Amino acid sequence: MRPGPLNGGVPAGLVILYATASGNAEQLAHAAADELAADGHAPEVRNVADFPPGRLHECSVALFIVSTWGEGAPPPDAGAFCAAVGGHAPRDLGSLHYAVLALGSSAYADFCAAGRRLDADLARRGARRLVPRVDCDTKFKAGFARWLAAVRQTLPIPS
Ligand SMILES: Cc1cc2nc3c(=O)[nH]c(=O)nc-3n(C[C@H](O)[C@H](O)[C@H](O)COP(=O)(O)O)c2cc1C
Repeated sequence: MRPGPLNGGVPAGLVILYATASGNAEQLAHAAADELAADGHAPEVRNVADFPPGRLHECSVALFIVSTWGEGAPPPDAGAFCAAVGGHAPRDLGSLHYAVLALGSSAYADFCAAGRRLDADLARRGARRLVPRVDCDTKFKAGFARWLAAVRQTLPIPS
């Protein structure tokens, strides 16, 4: 996949968006970007806290890596983004393909709730799921590898 033209700071091609409180999702986002770059893709890694949710529809592929905090909440600085995606918005994301990797801990009742909610909200807005969401417990390496392998199979090999 060729990188899309930068459109007012919003990547039009492949973007990896992370929501984190203690850094795990950010670390995995960069690891995913390295693997996808080795395939010939040109992913951009962004924190959802710095990404305008109203411009998601301008991306063609968005990979989300999202942790859960509090009692089923997104990380504090990701709250506004997640609330905007989940708000009463029109079904306007039909040209967006996406995948969600949810990070959490099964010690909590609301296991991976933020990632599960974001996945459902994106689908409700018409976005097209590339691969099923993977919910990861605190040992997330294997789940991450499985999810990324599935994502890579869906992306066209760049020419
Ligand atoms: C204070 C605290 C609250 C948490 N709350 C939840 C929760 O409600 N549900 C869940 O599945 N995981 C919860 N977790 C686990 C984190 O989501 C998990 O450790 C994750 O890997 C953190 O990723 P991050 O470093 O990207 O934020 C919590 C962790 C902490 C320290």
